[in-house]
Amino acid sequence: MKVLVTGSNGLLGQKLLDHYKQFPEVELIATARGADRYPFPGNYTYCALDITIEAEVNQVFNETKPDVVIHTAAMTNVDACELDQVNCDLLNVKAVQFIVNACNQINAHLIHLSTDFIFDGTHGPLHENEKPNPLSYYGHSKLKAEQLVQAHSNSWAILRTVLVYGVVKDMSRSNIVLWAKNALESGKSIQVVADQFRTPTLAEDLAKACALVAAQKATGIFHISGQNFMSIYDLVVQVADFWNLDKSLISMSSSEGIQQPAKRPPITGFQIHKAITLLNYQAHTFKEGLQIVDNQLKSLHHA
Ligand SMILES: NC(=O)c1ccc[n+]([C@@H]2O[C@H](COP(=O)([O-])OP(=O)(O)OC[C@H]3O[C@@H](n4cnc5c(N)ncnc54)[C@H](OP(=O)(O)O)[C@@H]3O)[C@@H](O)[C@H]2O)c1
Repeated sequence: MKVLVTGSNGLLGQKLLDHYKQFPEVELIATARGADRYPFPGNYTYCALDITIEAEVNQVFNETKPDVVIHTAAMTNVDACELDQVNCDLLNVKAVQFIVNACNQINAHLIHLSTDFIFDGTHGPLHENEKPNPLSYYGHSKLKAEQLVQAHSNSWAILRTVLVYGVVKDMSRSNIVLWAKNALESGKSIQVVADQFRTPTLAEDLAKACALVAAQKATGIFHISGQNFMSIYDLVVQVADFWNLDKSLISMSSSEGIQQPAKRPPITGFQIHKAITLLNYQAHTFKEGLQIVDNQLKSLHHA
């Protein structure tokens, strides 16, 4: 099987390269904007690919002819999307149409990544058939992309995920676990929302889920996240407990108390029964996830 990954420099992208090391029988094509930033040797071919350039998408897909495309690249900063809607549309919607068309031309199965931010957050954890109602521009763009995939792709799966955490080298964006750990380690006081609830997802678990879908060319929508439902405040307290950091630096806030350009859904989190049953997906507990991140921080430090 030949698998092409978009956004291979990103958090999920790099975790996919890690994952496929155990499967040398899979021919892997890593693609990302600019130079390859994966820091380890791997069994993959790298092609620079800016997904917003249609001709580049067509050229790379036609030359490499993958059986499966895992589309992780996106504009993932929710506030940046709110402030720069033109680029958000280009990356999260228009480029998805390029990828759908290119996959159709070569009969590739498309695995498209989406988000809990397509929901309005009135209740959770959510199953796959809940009605979307995004609150942010990012959420709108990702919902449009889902609709486009469902309407035009000949062979697709959509994997929605929630608050992904983990560590890779040269990350373009931090995540809540690393942000809280770094702030508390440097003695900074932080305000953390107690009225937003999630099921945080270990990046390795999400990569494994993508690979399970790829192996079966599974179709349809899957909710992929961790198994523990918690407020963001509780999440940060667990981070402090795990690394023995000063919890008195953490103060509780409401969403309204924190000025952010984009609105976040209060309650999301996912029910993951469908993925467990149909894909044999298994999620680590949040504590196990923190241990995995800790081990990786140590090995990246020595890399
Ligand atoms: N992280 C989360 O909490 C979360 C939650 C729900 C859903 N998701 C979804 O999961 C997917 C993967 O997210 P992630 O956490 O791996 O995000 P990430 O670490 O931000 O990675 C996204 C990657 O997309 C790349 N990219 C941006 N513009 C590009 C372009 N024009 N051409 C090619 N690549 C481009 C970025 O490249 P640079 O590194 O060069 O900037 C980055 O490496 C996304 O679709 C996201 O919407 C993520």
